[in-house]
Amino acid sequence: MNNKKISAIYYSPTHTSAKICSVVARAVNSTGIDVNYCELTYKAEEDKLHFTSDDLVVVSVPVYCSRVAPVAIERLAKIKGNNTPAIAIVVYGNRDYGDALLELCDVLKEKGFVTIAAAAFIGEHSYSRTNMPIAQGRPDDADVVAATVFGEKCRVKLDACHNIADFLQLKVDGNTPYFVVNHSAPTAPTIDVNLCNQCGVCIDNCPVEAISYQNGAVMCNVDLCTKCCRCVKECPHNAVKFITPYTELLHKNCAVRREPQIFM
Ligand SMILES: Cc1cc2nc3c(=O)[nH]c(=O)nc-3n(C[C@H](O)[C@H](O)[C@H](O)COP(=O)(O)O)c2cc1C
Repeated sequence: MNNKKISAIYYSPTHTSAKICSVVARAVNSTGIDVNYCELTYKAEEDKLHFTSDDLVVVSVPVYCSRVAPVAIERLAKIKGNNTPAIAIVVYGNRDYGDALLELCDVLKEKGFVTIAAAAFIGEHSYSRTNMPIAQGRPDDADVVAATVFGEKCRVKLDACHNIADFLQLKVDGNTPYFVVNHSAPTAPTIDVNLCNQCGVCIDNCPVEAISYQNGAVMCNVDLCTKCCRCVKECPHNAVKFITPYTELLHKNCAVRREPQIFM
């Protein structure tokens, strides 16, 4: 199948899902056409999310609590395919991806896509800190090679098929009903007033507009915050902290390197 347009669609607060998405989209693109990038980390333009059977989409999202990150699900609500081939990818922080890949494949099916291949990749955990790293630096060079090989295999699979109906239903790991997330008490990052110079990087970067100026200081709204840690990682002054017992727990228990898993 020759796709006239390839789109890389991702929700990626700390950039790991974005990186894998771009690598796979470039590798699957044998014709050299421009890849169309669609970043759902901010509210996307709706018209960018409508696709035909001539398109190929690569969709990559992070795993939160063994499921697709809820904001990614919200933003994918606008996506629409029409027998459009899709490559589904979840990126997780070296603990487990649970039912997230199955959930993403189900969403894509419901929205009119035919998932031809899927994969789970590993990204540095949002809660990873320099003194307690969790999958630090991932996706690394080996992951990029794996993502490139995956993209090339997808191209071979697409080229071998002449009709979208030739693709059999893909089976991925995961269970239904999906894992039910038990939401703990809301928490949010704090901003150290001694380090913060109110540059606004955290305000501009928050995917859900949870950070704002309040009474002359930068504050995070605990009810809106999704704990994605984009603000922690983007702050040029190290002023934003998100302290959670999960950092130590994951650092201790998820130290063994996990490898990407692909489903073709
Ligand atoms: C609220 C929250 C929940 C998470 N849950 C999981 C999880 O269940 N399993 C896991 O391995 N990683 C988990 N992670 C880590 C992310 O999946 C991982 O860091 C991913 O690379 C983030 O993607 P991004 O860089 O595209 O934002 C979680 C992160 C956050 C913020």
